[in-house]
Amino acid sequence: MKIFLDTANLQSIRMYNDMGLLDGITTNPSLLAKEGGDPQKAMEEITRIIKGDVSLEVVATDYEGMMDEGHRLKKYGQNVVIKVPITADGLKACKSLTQEGIPVNVTLVFSPNQAVLAAKAGAKYVSPFIGRLDDIGQDGMGLIEEIKQIFANYNFKTQILVASVRHPMHVVQAAKIGADVVTLPPDVLGKMLKHPLTDIGLKNFLADWEKLKQSNHS
Ligand code: G3P
Repeated sequence: MKIFLDTANLQSIRMYNDMGLLDGITTNPSLLAKEGGDPQKAMEEITRIIKGDVSLEVVATDYEGMMDEGHRLKKYGQNVVIKVPITADGLKACKSLTQEGIPVNVTLVFSPNQAVLAAKAGAKYVSPFIGRLDDIGQDGMGLIEEIKQIFANYNFKTQILVASVRHPMHVVQAAKIGADVVTLPPDVLGKMLKHPLTDIGLKNFLADWEKLKQSNHS
């Protein structure tokens, strides 16, 4: 399973990339707005830091606008994937960009049917938003299971990119289902690293070592 970071925060991106954990990045207009500053500079910098795929999202809603924006965003880096919403114009742009050799991530997916359409339009990634489904009392992870089964039935090449992840158990569940990618907010990735028994174990190792040193000096 590939791990992407779902953020435009350069400090987090550098930190987790330095640990060798990141296969890619996903951004969206809300994540860029959260960081403030010049979004173009931020997007260009992310494509320089990260070797893997970096999803940059269009804000145009019409086909021509999405195509123009897609071409402009693609110039920010070789590894750029254009993110388009699952709308009629978004799917048309997905097909055209894919035919030009520009990979596409179809976002804001909330149903198996939407995922099928994204795959048919040639998307490299489909992004189901599981947390937002959980938020309204629907089964986000169930959607991942359904898409996984459907894509396997027809050998669709589109990768399932689990988005809107809220906590580490979402990651475990996505991995058990066999999702291709999870994109994680930095705090969720941080929580995956931590375990209280690790902290206690390390504290005890260091205390015992200190005792041993003291006994050698006395
Ligand atoms: O990449 C976008 C997606 O992960 C959004 O997550 O937390 O805004 O539902 P969230």
